[in-house]
Amino acid sequence: MRSHARKALVLATTGLLAATGVVALSGTAHAASTLGESAAAKGRYFGTAVAANHLGEAPYAATLNAEFTSVTPENEMKWDALEASRGSFTYGAADQILAHAQGRGMKVRGHTLVWHSQLPSWVGTLAASDLRTAMNNHITQVMRHYQGKIHSWDVVNEAFQDGSSGARRSSPFQDKLGSGFIEEAFRTARATDPAAKLCYNDYNTDGVNAKSNAVYAMVKDFKQRGVPIDCVGFQSHFNSQSPVPADYQQNLQRFADLGVDVQITELDIEGSGSSQATSYANAVKACLAVSRCTGITVWGVTDKYSWRSGGTPLLFDGNYAKKPAYDSVLAALGGTSGGGGGTRTCSVSYAKQEEWGDRYNGKVTVTAGSSAISGWNVRVTIASVQEISATWNGTPSWDGTGKVMTMTPNGNGSLAAGGTTSFGFTVMTHGNTAPPTVGACTAS
Ligand code: G3I
Repeated sequence: MRSHARKALVLATTGLLAATGVVALSGTAHAASTLGESAAAKGRYFGTAVAANHLGEAPYAATLNAEFTSVTPENEMKWDALEASRGSFTYGAADQILAHAQGRGMKVRGHTLVWHSQLPSWVGTLAASDLRTAMNNHITQVMRHYQGKIHSWDVVNEAFQDGSSGARRSSPFQDKLGSGFIEEAFRTARATDPAAKLCYNDYNTDGVNAKSNAVYAMVKDFKQRGVPIDCVGFQSHFNSQSPVPADYQQNLQRFADLGVDVQITELDIEGSGSSQATSYANAVKACLAVSRCTGITVWGVTDKYSWRSGGTPLLFDGNYAKKPAYDSVLAALGGTSGGGGGTRTCSVSYAKQEEWGDRYNGKVTVTAGSSAISGWNVRVTIASVQEISATWNGTPSWDGTGKVMTMTPNGNGSLAAGGTTSFGFTVMTHGNTAPPTVGACTAS
C-alpha cells in the first residue's frame, strides 16, 4: 500500500509568508487508503458507472480518479448510443470515457452488446435473418473498435424474465431468433475478441431464486457444451423491498463453481446511515469470500447523478462527501477507515492581494487532500498593533485579544477530494505591514 504520509509544515516566523506572497502549508496527513487501492490489495478491482457528460465536473472527476480502478460507461456503450441508425457507428462519448480511464490505468467494463432496452427502433423492425445479421454485425463492429481495451463485456444483458417462470424475456432477439440468440451472441463475441472476458449480466439474480436458477442452468449448459462464457455479472440493485440476500455469497459461489468468474456489476443500495453502511459491507464481504469474484462496480459516483437519486443509493453524497457506506466498504475491503476524519486532510496557501497605505487584503485558499472533507478550519494570527476590519467567504470567530481569527466555512463546508475554496480579509496595518501567520488547515 502506498503511503501518503507527510509531515506538517510548521510556520516558524511570519517573515516566511512576507516577501513572495504565496506559501503553502499542509495539515498532517495519514496513509490514505482508497476503495481502489484496498480492493487491489485483495486482488480485485473497484469500479463505478461513469457518464461522459459529468467528466468535466472537477469534483466528479477528482472523486472518480482518487477512488476507482475500473469504469463502466453508464449509457454510452449501449446499442442506441453506438448504432442509432443501422451501420452508422458513433463512438464519441464512449471513447471519451475510455480515454479518461486509460490515461489513469483504470480498467473498462463494456456494457452492453445485446439488450432489449435502449435498443433503437430500427432493430425491432427487422425480419429474423436480417436481425441475426444486424446483431452479429453490431457485436463485431463494436468489439473490434474496442479490441484489447475492455476487460469484460456484458455480451447479453437481462435476457430472463422476473418471477418464477424461469423463462426468457420477450425481446426482438428472443421473439424472432429464439433462445439460441444468447449462444450465438457469445460465439460471435469470442470470435471477434478472444482476449475479452465475456459476461452474462442480469438483476434479481443475486440470491438463489427462480430467475437465478434459470441463468444458472444456462451457464451450466454453456460450460458443458463449450459455448464461450467467462463471467456472470450480478447487478445488485438493492433496497428495502429487495435487500442484500442472505444467500448472496452462496449464490455467487455456486456460479463460480461452474467455472466462471463472477462480478458485482451495478451495486447500489437505497437508504442512508448505518443500515445502508451495513448492507454495503455485507455485499462487499460476500464478494471477498468468493475467490472467483473478481471485482465490484457501484452504479455511479455520487447520489445526485444516480438513476434513482431519490434513494441516495451510492457511496458519496451530492456534495461528494463520503457517506457512512463509504467507510464501511473501505473497512470491509481492509482499507484504513476514515473513522470520522483520519484520512480527511486539507492544506492552505496564503497570498497577499490589494495593498493600500493603511491596509492590505489577504486571501487563503483551502484545498482538500485525497479524500473529500465535510468541513475545515484555519487559524489566522495578526501582529498586535494590527486589526482585521473585514472578512469574506467564511465565518470568523475570535480569541479574547482579537488578534487570532479562526475561520470556518460559510454554510456547507464540503469539498471534494482535491477541491478548493478560499476566504479573504482586510488587515489594518497601523504602521506594521507584516503578513499574518496562517496556521495549518484542519479538516473534518
Ligand atoms: O441523455 C438524455 C438527455 O439528453 C435527455 O434530455 C433525457 C430526457 O429523459 O434523457 C437522457 O437520457 C437518459 C439517460 O439515462 C441518460 O441520463 C434516458 O432517458 C434514461 O432512460 C437513461 O436511463 C438509464 C437506464 O439504464 C436506461 O435503461 C440510466 O441512466 C442507467 O443508469 C440505467 O442503467 C441500467 C443498466 O444499463 C442495466 N441494469 C439496470 C440499470 C438501472 O436501470
